[in-house]
Amino acid sequence: MSQKQIGILTAGGDAPGLNAAIRGVGKTAIEQYDMQILGFQNGFRGIAQNHSSVLNGESLAGILTLGGTILGTSRDKPHKMSIGGKTMDMTDAIIETYQQLHLDALVCLGGGGTQKNALHLKNAGLNVVSLPKTIDNDVAGTDMTFGFDTALGIATEAIDRLHSTAHSHHRIIVAELMGHNAGWLTLGAGIAGGADVVLIPEIPYDIESVANAIKKRVQSGKRFSIVAVAEGALTQAQAAIVGQLNEELTAATDKAERKKLKSMLKEHEQVHINNTLNLSRQLEALTGLESRTSILGHLQRGGTPSAGDRILATHLGAAAADFIAQEQYGIMVAYRNMEAVAVPLEEIAGVKKRVPLDHPWIQTARKVGTNLGD
Ligand code: F6P
Repeated sequence: MSQKQIGILTAGGDAPGLNAAIRGVGKTAIEQYDMQILGFQNGFRGIAQNHSSVLNGESLAGILTLGGTILGTSRDKPHKMSIGGKTMDMTDAIIETYQQLHLDALVCLGGGGTQKNALHLKNAGLNVVSLPKTIDNDVAGTDMTFGFDTALGIATEAIDRLHSTAHSHHRIIVAELMGHNAGWLTLGAGIAGGADVVLIPEIPYDIESVANAIKKRVQSGKRFSIVAVAEGALTQAQAAIVGQLNEELTAATDKAERKKLKSMLKEHEQVHINNTLNLSRQLEALTGLESRTSILGHLQRGGTPSAGDRILATHLGAAAADFIAQEQYGIMVAYRNMEAVAVPLEEIAGVKKRVPLDHPWIQTARKVGTNLGD
């Protein structure tokens, strides 16, 4: 069999473990299968504009522990890319680079958006293999995404540290955590850090319920409270509006109408910092306690990956090279029951894995008396 030539790119928001995954794919491809590997810069833009460099033993050395991605990343989509101020469909340009470089496969490392883009390229005729990366842990079909474990550790440490200052000042501290529209990170860190209130997008909250839980703590002598709130958390009133907009979007067939509804939904996604500040102010008013807000933001995505993420990323990356050697394409390499398995992209692209309401973590949080805002 002739030597295979594969391309690799990282897309979407960065996450700890990306370099470990690049190394896992690259080392296995080179050492086990004698493949050649090219890294594209800045996500799908790199392959659209043919910006690549050879990855070899030398360039793959020393990257296991590095945060970020040595390839750079972007949120560019193959079919909607801004080029010289214009939005263009770059699918054909990507196919051209793929053919020109005689690639046998393209490995796409990314979250939910990247899985959709990988499917788009698969449908355009490319041999695609993807890997699930995101601190949000919201990619369908996999038990876990790499990046999540590191972010969980950082968010937990933040909650730990907020405890002593909240305790000393007898304050409420509202800590906003990332996670987009899924509550995995906040729920996990909330349980691990012992937050008193945990608010996630899957459970719209009632401010009175949160304030009452804090007042109860005061009555029992605990004059401080930690509220972990996901950036995507919504009040019950906001959730009703979002639900209505989603229903209208499902029913809408007119292109302009759909565009308008999508942009209205996006606006609701972008209110998070205001929501968090409002939550803090309202809790002050309702409880009589002083409240402070701490927005963790991109700290949760930075720095060296945890041991767990290094193992997961290396495991899935190495398996991606195995699947390419077997010419199994059009798949995401998922992690299920400690195994790396191939899942057809059609099954998972466009599906968001949110926290199910009967998930054991939700039950556990309730059992230990955590208020979930409902
Ligand atoms: O998807 C990862 C994530 O960190 C989300 O948790 C967050 O909503 C988003 O990316 C932030 O994106 P950006 O880095 O583009 O601001």
